[in-house]
Amino acid sequence: MDMAIERPRVLSGIQPTSGSFHLGNYLGAVRQWVAQQETHDAFYMVADLHAVTVPQDPAEFRSNTRLAVAQLLAAGLDPERCTLFVQSHVPEHAQLGWLLNCLTGFGEASRMTQFKDKSAKQGVERTTVGLFTYPVLMAADILLYQSDQVPVGGDQRQHLELTRDLAERFNSRYGEIFTVPEAFILKETARIVDLQDPVVKMSKSASTPKGIIDLLDEPKASAKKIKSAVTDTDTVIRFDEEHKPGVSNLLTIYASLTGTGIPELEQRYEGKGYGALKTDLAEVVVEWVTPFRERTRGYLDDPETLDSILAKGAEKARAVAAETLAQAYDRMGFLAAKH
Ligand code: TYM
Repeated sequence: MDMAIERPRVLSGIQPTSGSFHLGNYLGAVRQWVAQQETHDAFYMVADLHAVTVPQDPAEFRSNTRLAVAQLLAAGLDPERCTLFVQSHVPEHAQLGWLLNCLTGFGEASRMTQFKDKSAKQGVERTTVGLFTYPVLMAADILLYQSDQVPVGGDQRQHLELTRDLAERFNSRYGEIFTVPEAFILKETARIVDLQDPVVKMSKSASTPKGIIDLLDEPKASAKKIKSAVTDTDTVIRFDEEHKPGVSNLLTIYASLTGTGIPELEQRYEGKGYGALKTDLAEVVVEWVTPFRERTRGYLDDPETLDSILAKGAEKARAVAAETLAQAYDRMGFLAAKH
């Protein structure tokens, strides 16, 4: 771990709300988390405090949180190489969140597009204040760990901008304590789109089940979804996100799951038609999800190991978070409690 001191720090999080992660979560974010364990001092968390910004059934929420941890391990996170924890196990997140709430403009928070979209869909009365301040809590997550980089999908870019603004604001008002983080967004997989409606991102809330590849679905069902993905009336297999978003999405998924370059795929499928591409990609997906599901089940079947991983993770995370929070309290002028 000594080497970790010189490594840049990363932090990222995923919500446990939907049960199974989908392919967009994996390719847009989690896959990069796995890679960055080797090169960064990495902190990854299940964002359960964010999840309760919309109503959750308590029993389901608890089991989905475990399921999220199991999936992260199944995807390749290694607790020896990264710090894996559950956000609510580290109370400093909510505490710094409050301080940052008091530094965030009402107008500034109102401009967050994810909030605007979600609250428009739900209606004002059903939208919680928690959903409104969601990005501020996210800023607290990131700043507590002095993160240099934050590996996320493209939909989180605006939240990262807010995080940077808040870090800079705090630093200039109270003295430099926060590292100003950068988003780490891989261009190729920043936005995996819906299989049925390839102009919108793949997302549980926005898409029909047919448009989403859930990693824990029956592999056969996923194969079927790939085979019935919406493409276009042309027959040419070419990467062109503007004119051929459906085909481009399939090529992106294929390329990232197999490590094959897109130009190579275009060549391989020249003159072969969409059917061949879909059949092969369906197989690639089945080969990936089948062992993933098994590994997830394995971790779920061993709750003691899971709990001990999370206990260690929370302890490591807390040591870092508590130090940052203490500095923030001190700089803002809170009277220190004497014990
Ligand atoms: P969440 O749980 O919605 O999604 C987890 C990650 O998956 C990415 N993602 C996608 N990437 C590409 N294509 C898609 N269709 C797609 N759908 C989702 C998301 O960009 C995200 O990286 N607010 C965060 C959780 C969070 C967080 C944090 C992230 C809480 N605190 C601190 C980073 C740092 C979220 O809701 O992600």
